[in-house]
Amino acid sequence: MSVLGDLSIETFLRDYWQKRPLLIRQAIPDLVSPISADELAGLACEENVEARIVIENDNGKPWQLRHGPFDESHFEKLPDSPWTLLVQGLDHWVPEVAELLDRFRFIPNWRLDDIMASYAPDGGSVGPHFDYYDVFLLQVEGRRRWQVGGNCDSHSPRLSGTPLRILSDFQPDEEWVLEPGDMLYLPPQVAHWGVAEGDCITFSVGFRSPTHEEIITSFSDYCCHQEDSERHLEDRDLRLQDNPGRIDTQVLDDLEAIIREKLLDRRQLTLWFGQFSTEPKHEDIVIPLDEPWSDQDIRELIDSGAPICWNEGSRFAYHDLGDETALFVDGERYLLRGEARELAPLLCRRYEVDTEQLARLIDDQALLELVTLLFNQGSLYDAS
Ligand code: SIN
Ligand code: CO
Repeated sequence: MSVLGDLSIETFLRDYWQKRPLLIRQAIPDLVSPISADELAGLACEENVEARIVIENDNGKPWQLRHGPFDESHFEKLPDSPWTLLVQGLDHWVPEVAELLDRFRFIPNWRLDDIMASYAPDGGSVGPHFDYYDVFLLQVEGRRRWQVGGNCDSHSPRLSGTPLRILSDFQPDEEWVLEPGDMLYLPPQVAHWGVAEGDCITFSVGFRSPTHEEIITSFSDYCCHQEDSERHLEDRDLRLQDNPGRIDTQVLDDLEAIIREKLLDRRQLTLWFGQFSTEPKHEDIVIPLDEPWSDQDIRELIDSGAPICWNEGSRFAYHDLGDETALFVDGERYLLRGEARELAPLLCRRYEVDTEQLARLIDDQALLELVTLLFNQGSLYDAS
C-alpha cells in the first residue's frame, strides 16, 4: 500500500520529508481517478464545498481568483485564458478519495490537512508560487508539467495586481511531466509551477502544521478557559517603595510564576493540542445524527461485522498520559483508563476500524457508550 515506490518509509522520512522534493513514478500504479471533471464541477456548485477558480488572465488582470459556490453556467462564461478549478477537502465528500489517505498513514493523523483536487484544461495552472504545507501532488488524470525551483520565504519577490502569491522571479531547477499514478512530494516553501498538458486532474494531499503564533494564541486562549483563570494577581506582601513609578522585581517574579504554572503544564498542553489538532476543518463536516443509535443498535452493528469507518472529515488522535490515555476525536477529548485504553490506538490506526477488536472492547459498557456517542455525533459511520 506504500506510495513511495522502492523507497522505504524510513529513508523517505530521513532524507526527503521537510527537506527536499521527491518524484515517485507510479506511486499508485493503475490509478483510476475516483472523480471526473464533471463531478468536480458539480461539487464546486454546492453550498458547503470550498471551491475556487484561478484565471491566468482575467480581462487583462493577472492571476485572478473567484470563490465558489459557482452556478453551472459560470464554467461556460470563463474568459478565453487558461484557468484552474480547485476543490478543497475532497476527502470529506468522496469516500473513495478518503480511502487514498490510508496510503499516507506514515505521517501522523494530526498533520493531515486535506486532499485538494485541481482540474485544468490545457495550459491551466495556479501560477508559480510556494506553500507553507508539505504536499504530495498525485497526478490522477491526464498530464501535468511540474517545474520546481529553490526555497522561498515572505521576502521572495511577488507579482502585484493579483490576490494570489505569485512569484515574479521563478527560476526552475528541475522539470518533470507527471502521468496518472505519478506523484511529486514537495516540502514547504519550495517554489513550484504545474501546468496542465491537455485536460488534467491533480490531487494535493496536504499536511499542515501550526505556526508559532497559532500555538501560543490558541494554547493561551485554552488556558484562559480553565478553572482559576479569573483570579487576579495578588500582592499581599507589598512594601513601601522609594519611587511609586518603579515596577518591582517581585511583580515580575509573580508574573513568571503564573505563566509557569498555567502555560508550562504538560498535561494541559497535551489536552489542548489533541483537541486543537483534531478540530474538523469546518463546523458543517461532522454532523450529529437526526435519529441517534442506541447502545444495543451499536452492539448489534459491530457484532454483525459491518464496515465501520471514520466520517471522511473526522480526525482521530491519542496520547498516552501516565496511567491514562487521552483519545481525541473532532476537537473533543475522552480519558481512558485500564484496559479501556486499548480503544484509542484501535480507533486511530486507520480509516476503516478493525471491528473484530472493537467487538471485544465494547463488552465494557462504558466503551460501548463512548462508541455509541461517536456514532451519534457523526464521527463514525456504518459504511455498508
Ligand atoms: C494544482 O494542482 O494545480 C496546484 C497545486 C499546487 O501547486 O499546490
Ligand atoms: Co502549491
